[in-house]
Amino acid sequence: MRLGVNIDHIATLREARKINYPDPLEAIFIVKNAGADQITLHLREDRRHINDDDVRKIIESHQIKINIESSTNKQIIDYLISLKPHSITLVPENRMEVTTEGGLKITDNIKEVVKKIKDSGIKTSLFIDACDDEIQKAKECNTDAIELHTGLFSNLYLILNTNLNLTCNKLDIKNPLQKYQEILKNINDCAKFAKNLGLEVYAGHGLNYQNVGEIVKIDEITELNIGHSIIARAVFCGLENAIKEMLALIKK
Ligand code: PXP
Repeated sequence: MRLGVNIDHIATLREARKINYPDPLEAIFIVKNAGADQITLHLREDRRHINDDDVRKIIESHQIKINIESSTNKQIIDYLISLKPHSITLVPENRMEVTTEGGLKITDNIKEVVKKIKDSGIKTSLFIDACDDEIQKAKECNTDAIELHTGLFSNLYLILNTNLNLTCNKLDIKNPLQKYQEILKNINDCAKFAKNLGLEVYAGHGLNYQNVGEIVKIDEITELNIGHSIIARAVFCGLENAIKEMLALIKK
């Protein structure tokens, strides 16, 4: 299992003060030394954390594979293509959201953007919900990989195992345990379906030190992109230790 460490929230901390530290560029050496496989960054349209310069400096450092998450915004995609990261993951974006709330709905436009990215020699992944229909459409887009959205799985795990309550996440679910079991089974089934279609299968969103074991059991999933929980843990034990603790849970 590969680990992509999403370091957006280092920039969130910088932007809390609108100054020039902490610098996400400093993190790449720590992430590499800790043994992670790639850095993931989300260049959002609203630039709420990572900015254009961060992306450029990190890609140009050539230290580790870089995966950039982006909407299909033409200016951003053209900028990313000019920088040639290892891979681009297309994600949906909504200006009002706290974080990426659901998977992409695949349209002809997404197919065209995938083609443009692949034609420039960059790998593509599509961040989608665990749903056979979207996986089939992803295959028709000719993407290299999909990343299954684990957000609802992760929120339900918290609701079932911690003091987080349903209303915190505005979830209206009668039987959270049953829903959790259904969602986990669905992620499992969809990972198999996608692998059988020849897609590489990744997962991410909301994964943490407690819930990641359930996803690691799914053999078809070969890469996890994890950000918030690792950066949160790093506050207490340092980034290198936080990454090593996660690697110990996911490497098999
Ligand atoms: N994968 C994708 C496609 C994402 O959009 C995000 C959030 O930016 C993540 C993984 C990481 O999510 P988290 O920060 O909840 O671990």
